[in-house]
Amino acid sequence: MFPLRRNRRLRSNEAIRSLVRETIISPNDFLVPLFVVEGKGIKEEITSMPNYYRYSLDLLQNEVKELWKLGLKSVLLFVKVPDNLKDNKGTEALNPNGLMQRAIKTVKNTCPDMLVMTDVALDPYSAYGHDGIIENGQVLNDETAKVLSDMSLSHAQAGANFVAPSDMMDGRILSIREALEQSGFKNTGIMSYSAKYASAFYGPFRDALDSAPVDMVDVPKDKKTYQMDYGNRIEAIRETLMDIDEGADIVMVKPGLCYLDIVRDIKNEVDVPVAVYQVSGEYAMIKAAAEKGWLDHNAVMLEQTTAIKRAGADIIASYFAKDVVTLLNG
Ligand code: PBG
Repeated sequence: MFPLRRNRRLRSNEAIRSLVRETIISPNDFLVPLFVVEGKGIKEEITSMPNYYRYSLDLLQNEVKELWKLGLKSVLLFVKVPDNLKDNKGTEALNPNGLMQRAIKTVKNTCPDMLVMTDVALDPYSAYGHDGIIENGQVLNDETAKVLSDMSLSHAQAGANFVAPSDMMDGRILSIREALEQSGFKNTGIMSYSAKYASAFYGPFRDALDSAPVDMVDVPKDKKTYQMDYGNRIEAIRETLMDIDEGADIVMVKPGLCYLDIVRDIKNEVDVPVAVYQVSGEYAMIKAAAEKGWLDHNAVMLEQTTAIKRAGADIIASYFAKDVVTLLNG
């Protein structure tokens, strides 16, 4: 008898395909990154991220309500800090009335059940565009970890549900966990960017926040002394297991598409939820190709986000969240 098995039977129409489909994305899978700026009435498009915006706090409220209506229940906040508030130590990051702290309260007041996660790293606050304090051309580790734990505490005090350290300093998860416990924030979670690669795909994000490393003597020109080398795989597992030992509730692989092998390795290795960040450059590539008419925007968007989940993501941080969910809702 030929062929022995006819696999095409299970593909013969949409009804059978949807019946046997292994991976299905839904609004529950998504974490929505949001960019916040000072001011009033501001909704400004990010040049290298078409149809993605920075919001002032008043307009952030509408956006958050819209997300909630669509079934998107988690946001990840980033702030664009005015130049005059930047320094080498992230002083402004600890301001209890700073933009991040006010953004947390704004989201919570608008939509109390929305899960609020906050980016914890120095780069938006750094005059040098680095995730840590710079001294003699080096990014200091332990001094930076201390600021990050103070910053996390400040976000927890403002009402954040989770802090998300994206800096890759050694030991920062432990110091953040200790700081939160000591101040009674036992239920504030940590989503660690545990396997974060030194990637060229972060370009548009650095445009969005004006946070790229500056070109100056004695300032490292890239983030390769702290973010991971993209040739490495075993190291991603080590980083991730260490972060879990130190107290991470959720771990993350970043970027997404080029790192789906890492996502699967980690998913097979750990017993905590795994998040994947489909980063700004991945978003920009699809937008640019679609604008030229070279790719089908929605089809590629669904294929990539589904692939991220299939690889092992429990959570997808994505600039496409709203587009995907709008499409799924028909
Ligand atoms: C910085 C941070 C970056 C992103 C998230 N947090 C950029 C960087 O490390 O330079 C990138 C996100 C994206 O590209 O969408 N701590």
